Amino acid sequence: MADIILGLESSCDDTSAAVIRDGYLLSNVLASQEVHKAYGGVIPELASRAHQVNIVPVVSEAIARAGITPDDITAIAFTRGPGLLGSLLVGTSFAKGLSLALNKPLVEVNHLQGHILANFIREYGKDDPQPEFPYLCLLVSGGNSQIVRVDGPLEYEILGQTIDDAVGEAFDKCAKMMGLGYPGGPVVDRLAKSGDPLKFKFSKPHIPGFDYSFSGIKTSLLYFVRDQIALDPDFMEKNKEDICASFQKALIDILMDKLIKAAKHTGIRHIAIGGGVSANSGLRTRIVEEGRKRGWKTYLPEFKFTTDNAAMIAVAGWFHYKNGERTSLDVAPVSRLAEF
Ligand code: KG4
Repeated sequence: MADIILGLESSCDDTSAAVIRDGYLLSNVLASQEVHKAYGGVIPELASRAHQVNIVPVVSEAIARAGITPDDITAIAFTRGPGLLGSLLVGTSFAKGLSLALNKPLVEVNHLQGHILANFIREYGKDDPQPEFPYLCLLVSGGNSQIVRVDGPLEYEILGQTIDDAVGEAFDKCAKMMGLGYPGGPVVDRLAKSGDPLKFKFSKPHIPGFDYSFSGIKTSLLYFVRDQIALDPDFMEKNKEDICASFQKALIDILMDKLIKAAKHTGIRHIAIGGGVSANSGLRTRIVEEGRKRGWKTYLPEFKFTTDNAAMIAVAGWFHYKNGERTSLDVAPVSRLAEF
């Protein structure tokens, strides 16, 4: 009998539900929260309230679009963490209630694992190759920047990670400093396309091993912009495309330097990316180019699976389910999960 997994994601500001059958996507419904735009960042209290409003219609829609009935569900997978506690509480409580009401097993998923396994979401009519083990995943989002060695669907080793800010935060702060709105990554990406990436230089951090640091480069952008505006008040407006292109290039250089180093060190040539920043067009192009040059096989998730979505949670939950894992009804969400 086929495994039908309902996935629920509510770790930050997207309420999402998805249904997969034996790894194939039947539906993926997402309600994004526009309310945060006015504040230039996610307001946790507003996020959890919006999840409360959205979760029932989103789950109903996912089940309807999948063409199944609630009784067909084999297991319910949900994001237990990491994320905003108030947001996670909504998804976790809903998953527990549904599990009890339908008498279906519950499977907890680490949100980061979802991003790593996003390349395993299968869609009918598409035959995208799936990563071969072992592979390295560059996991880049608003909360994380990691290089993860993946030896199997549930076997991970973090080779390197940020010691301060995540790369997504650097994108978001850059946009905020320039008054470009929130979330910043997509705007910086769009403006960078018509800018000169070599126009301005930003100093790179010197961090040992495979770890990252993005707080210094954020500060150097702040000082650079401040100094230039003191000389010419219109500097930002005149140069915003070039600033975005140069800053984006600097961030991508930092990410790629360590990834190349990790690939050389491990000898692994299967390279994937995941997380919100993996939507960045500059990063996607660069990783494919480097792959071509270095004989890597590269795996990029589809755009719709780069940012938070429940399809990746359903797939990760399916791997856990097949591994015999079940979560008890007294589970509580956790805002930080050390291991995954
Ligand atoms: O994975 P995600 O949706 O949420 C978590 O942090 O878990 O990632 C959100 C991050 C934000 O920082 C956003 O600015 C960034 O991903 N992002 C991008 C792009 N699209 C989203 N960064 C650069 N370029 C993009 N196209």
